[in-house]
Amino acid sequence: MNIDILTIFPDVFTSPFQHSIIKRAIDKGLVNIGLHDLRKYTNDKHKKVDDYAFGGTSGMVMTIQPIASCIDHLKSQTVYDEIIYLTPDGETLNQEIANQLSLKKNIAILCGHYKGVDQRVRDNYITREISIGDYVLSGGEYAAIILCDSIIRLIPGVISDETSALSDSFQDGILAAPVYTRPANYNGWEVPAILLSGHEANIQKWLYEKALERTQKRRPDLYLKL
Ligand code: 6GU
Repeated sequence: MNIDILTIFPDVFTSPFQHSIIKRAIDKGLVNIGLHDLRKYTNDKHKKVDDYAFGGTSGMVMTIQPIASCIDHLKSQTVYDEIIYLTPDGETLNQEIANQLSLKKNIAILCGHYKGVDQRVRDNYITREISIGDYVLSGGEYAAIILCDSIIRLIPGVISDETSALSDSFQDGILAAPVYTRPANYNGWEVPAILLSGHEANIQKWLYEKALERTQKRRPDLYLKL
């Protein structure tokens, strides 16, 4: 999979992609991430990438030219399955969207800033608009990191234990069951005996019940859809 990220802050992405699962996915060649600095595409002599909003709305708007030049350049080399704009007024990211995107070959992600991008970018280049939740961030970069993480861990071969991603919270519309590891007794706090019983069928039944119980208690909205 190839992910191209368009941003005015490419440096923000260096550390998050150098650890753990994303790093391994990159090292294995399962994902390639291209960082594209929008400031390198501006024709403005002062390297400006924003301007005042027409109509008197307060705040700055990202101008169309650098974004259009960058996307046109990328599209001359790559056919994109999706060109995503990250924005608080997009559809809210969930596991189903992450699953869908993990099957794509080429995606581009545009990170917004200030009051957002000129609407003509959205009308003419963007194929999908995604938000990561009902709160406002100062820019799309952290949202892009979260979106990339949610997608990359689902790419076949990225997580070595094939069943591991399948038992995540939300994967069946249900929260994950509690987990325990050694020691079986810590200061008198014991691991539920059933997990040590070795009786696989009973263990699976117990885990499913616990997952249901948690979902009902913490996310009644999800429980009602089961
Ligand atoms: Cl994608 N961008 C910004 N700026 N704020 C957000 C968001 C995105 N998703 C939730 N809040």
